[in-house]
Amino acid sequence: MCGIIGCIDRDDIVPTLLSGLSKLEYRGYDSAGIAVANSGVRVVKREGELNELVQRIESEPELDGISGIGHTRWSTHGRPSDENAHPHTDCSSRVAVVHNGIIENYQSLRTELQSLGHEFESDTDTEVVPHIIGHELDAGSSPRTAFYEAVEKLEGSYAIAAVFEGHDEVMAARQGSSLVLGVGDDATYVASDITALVDRTDSVVHMDDGEFAFLSTDGHEIVDENDERQSKTQTTIEWDAEAVAKGEHDHYMLKEIHEQPAALRECLRDRSTTGQFVTADVFNDDHLGPIHFVACGTSYHAALYGARLLRERGVPAQAFLASEYATAPPPIRDSTLVVGVTQSGETADTLAALRAADERDAQTLALTNVVGSTAARECDDVLYIRSGPEISVAATKTFASQLVMLTLLAHQTSLESGIGNADRLLSALNELSGQIQQVLDTTNAMPTARRLANSSGYFFIGRGLQYPVALEGALKMKEITYEHAEGFAAGELKHGPLALVTEETPVFVSAIGDDETVQKTISNAKEVSARGAPVVAVTDGTTSIERFADVALRVPETHRMLAPILVNVQYQLLAYYTARYLGRSIDKPRNLAKSVTVK
Ligand code: G6P
Repeated sequence: MCGIIGCIDRDDIVPTLLSGLSKLEYRGYDSAGIAVANSGVRVVKREGELNELVQRIESEPELDGISGIGHTRWSTHGRPSDENAHPHTDCSSRVAVVHNGIIENYQSLRTELQSLGHEFESDTDTEVVPHIIGHELDAGSSPRTAFYEAVEKLEGSYAIAAVFEGHDEVMAARQGSSLVLGVGDDATYVASDITALVDRTDSVVHMDDGEFAFLSTDGHEIVDENDERQSKTQTTIEWDAEAVAKGEHDHYMLKEIHEQPAALRECLRDRSTTGQFVTADVFNDDHLGPIHFVACGTSYHAALYGARLLRERGVPAQAFLASEYATAPPPIRDSTLVVGVTQSGETADTLAALRAADERDAQTLALTNVVGSTAARECDDVLYIRSGPEISVAATKTFASQLVMLTLLAHQTSLESGIGNADRLLSALNELSGQIQQVLDTTNAMPTARRLANSSGYFFIGRGLQYPVALEGALKMKEITYEHAEGFAAGELKHGPLALVTEETPVFVSAIGDDETVQKTISNAKEVSARGAPVVAVTDGTTSIERFADVALRVPETHRMLAPILVNVQYQLLAYYTARYLGRSIDKPRNLAKSVTVK
């Protein structure tokens, strides 16, 4: 989704902006641009990849200044084009603006401005902002006042940064879309996420909704909507530049799949060595009420898994798609705990669901990867999954860490109520990283993907704790291969989806252990096999499925609660290699974004 970088830098403004934009590429974008201000404002922008913009900049003579802004755009209003790319300017190019989010009242603002003689060059909602600022400047306002006046007129969600001609300041405003300031030795930055800053500074200040920031050569100043100066704490980012580099791997996705053993060790650090797994206060309440998980995409699949584990322990827990929850929440009591599962901590729908819960006096808990993210700061409590930066749009290592965290939460509940045996789970957790490594070292996902890469569709089935993994396997496949893939509860297959099954639709089945549930899944696999579909079994070798499966992908035996994590590694690799054979853009799949900051 759109990304913002802005900075005050005496020496290297253009390289700094471009380096920031390159770190934001992972969010997904279809055009990019920069604006640099000195005695005038110069804008260079281009549809397409960042290197197109770089080439264009190389042909621009003497593009330099002290203040600058840059943007990667993921289209919402208007198709990808040079005109719709940010930054946008007023009629006489005195101000340039970049924006993330959606300005809901842009149409009426635009009509009003047009009636005043303003001419628009793009289809975007954003362009109203520099025109309002321009209008205020014409009326004699100072740049700061013009900026305040413009922001005050906006409805919707926004993170905005602006630069002005003849004015060495970057101005920024936040409402519902993330913005963070970076404090360097000789430069000050503003960015939509900390990834853009990791090679520049480790010292950041998170902006809150309603705040304005002013960056100058003297440092930065943050004020609230009443123009009162805010003194905010600087925090240190623990992620470094190496963590956001691709290293020896061809793709970030493959790198992140391979980082899972280390990510899980980090997630478990200090947590799996004691009986007290997690320390979230809201979760340790003696009288645990209903638990609602709210999440989107991959995180929703983790939420389904967490809710299932808790229900197995007698806790009334349910997982909801955040976008549905936010618009029509189910009954919420003040004893309800609402857990937002969100890698980024910035997903607009998840934040909206958490805010809806907060308004109804529920307790809220963020389960997130990003320290200082909006979810982390707004919720009553936070648990960090500690996966390190995840750059590939398709979530991999963070899903594994989310499942481990949810396992710990659920198991702590059972210990508190006297059921469950921590020892078995603890020893299984301590073996898990090594077992993932074993899957990575021995997998036959690559030849399997090659064999099946020209199928007409891919189906994934599983029961119980394996059902969320079937959904996740299919999501991964569709996200990066652009092929039709669906996940089903194995028992539902014969209630409709079976009509889709042909010799050209491989069915991926997770069959782990040898209990009654697995026997039913195996029967479902036989039903698709009888109809000619290739069956790919992911199994720990304890089931009979290998007798008739066309391909078997092995995972080591583990605790029932942890098996989905191992199965999922095979599914991640299958999706990855299939996408490779099909020549897809793996890290930045078409139309998708890493962090979806609009509803
Ligand atoms: C986007 C990403 C998905 C992710 C989802 C939720 O759609 O492409 O990979 O699962 O957002 O993101 P979150 O940061 O809230 O986990």
